[in-house]
Amino acid sequence: MTNILCIGAGYVGGPTMAVIAKHCPEHRIVVVDINEAKIAAWQSDHLPIYEPGLEEVVRGARGRNLFFSTEINRHIVEADVIFVSVNTPTKTFGQGAGKAADLQYWEKTARQILEHSTTPKIVVEKSTLPVRTAQALERILNSNDNGLHFDVVSNPEFLAEGTAIRDLENPDRVLVGARETPSGQRALQAMVDIYAHWVPRERIITTNLWSSELSKLAANAFLAQRVSSINAISALCEKTEADIAEVAQAIGTDSRIGPRFLRASVGFGGSCFKKDILNLVYLCEHYSLYEVAAYWEQVVKMNEYQQARFVSRMVSAMFNTVAGKRIALFGAAFKANTSDTRESPALAVCRTLLEERANVVITDPHALDNARADLGAAAEKVTFEPDPYVAARGAHAIAVLTEWPYLAELDYAAILESMVKPAFIFDGRNILDHQKLYAMGFNVYAIGKPPLTNFPS
Ligand code: NAD
Ligand code: UGA
Repeated sequence: MTNILCIGAGYVGGPTMAVIAKHCPEHRIVVVDINEAKIAAWQSDHLPIYEPGLEEVVRGARGRNLFFSTEINRHIVEADVIFVSVNTPTKTFGQGAGKAADLQYWEKTARQILEHSTTPKIVVEKSTLPVRTAQALERILNSNDNGLHFDVVSNPEFLAEGTAIRDLENPDRVLVGARETPSGQRALQAMVDIYAHWVPRERIITTNLWSSELSKLAANAFLAQRVSSINAISALCEKTEADIAEVAQAIGTDSRIGPRFLRASVGFGGSCFKKDILNLVYLCEHYSLYEVAAYWEQVVKMNEYQQARFVSRMVSAMFNTVAGKRIALFGAAFKANTSDTRESPALAVCRTLLEERANVVITDPHALDNARADLGAAAEKVTFEPDPYVAARGAHAIAVLTEWPYLAELDYAAILESMVKPAFIFDGRNILDHQKLYAMGFNVYAIGKPPLTNFPS
């Protein structure tokens, strides 16, 4: 039996450990966090995050070989392998503010591991970290004077929210990076042995530490770059009567390009894409690779442009003013099937509409509590309404901001009936039947498509 500890019970730590516990019944897994309310939620019937399939996996292993606790120090003592999946947000102060990763939670955790360890351990970088962080960690951990040896292993996580369980159960690959020393290679093998319980060996990629750390940042940068690329083309479509769905299909059928991640949208959100690209940009600047930094920074700039462009289009379509107008935002989550609203384009759109003095009402099936919390003081000016029909009643416009499938199934004839005319729909996810809505009487604005308006020209 191996005693596995995971420090950080968030979107990564919780689901990842639940799936390891499911497939490795002989190992004992404890997930700890400083946030008592979060740990209490993991121990209850109301898990702290919404993720399809998660409840079932947690219920199957919890109390058997999966435990949640706030007693971090005690569990450090017992652990053989410690995954660290604490948050690594963008630094908001000092050197690198606005770009570099804030590593204070990581360093605090490393020092806590050092202070409470009485046996050698494998420390696993599960959080996304700047390349060469492992070197700093090794220096901290191995600074002890009682002869204890720590192996630092990089094992970045590639799950996407909303499909976390599916991604963990059937990953495209698992990546493990370690030192090329005998003890580094033993640590690497220990990690491979854990994942080999359910992941085919050929999908477990092993590399050196730095390749593993950098591959995580590079993967997110490439994914976000695809979204920004298709969104850049969507802007051109709107000027030229080309249709972004047709263009995406035409280019995505080229097997070298591939069809995935080509959905034009109001922009990408989530806690990681922006933070990880800015981290990459900071690293490039640190190594004086200014052209490389500028190249990647443009992916984030394009995303900000896309969100701003979406609201500008709304305002100009609605006769250049939305002040005092009720506008229903359909969706608050940064993508479907999650309750997460971190960096959600819906909240960016909401904030800009509030600046324009619109009366904003937001509807979402799972993310209203997080939306309220993330909006902070601005939340006071927003109405949060779980029922989309109620949200749309009396509204001048609807903006679809999350691709929840149920939003495409609503009775839009009834919704139109209840709205102020002329009624507008801005589909920021291109999930609605635009021709049908137009025929009903809506004025329809989709991403990367010419508007369908019922006004006489
Ligand atoms: P999260 O904010 O949901 O969870 C992090 C948890 O760590 C929090 O519950 C926090 O209370 C806890 N924590 C912070 N400091 C601690 C300490 N000293 N001791 C104990 N607990 C502490 O974050 P997340 O979304 O799970 O992301 C974690 C890391 O994984 C980040 O580096 C992120 O970039 C990376 N990642 C996230 C995703 C994702 O889909 N969210 C996917 C892949 C990688
Ligand atoms: C992303 C990556 O996909 C994961 O591999 C990675 O582990 C994770 O970041 C991370 O490091 O945190 P996630 O942000 O959860 O996962 O979700 P994605 O499916 O990547 O979507 C990100 C954003 O891009 C969402 O707002 C989504 O709506 C948007 N998107 C995605 C588009 O607008 N168009 C697309 O075609 C795809």
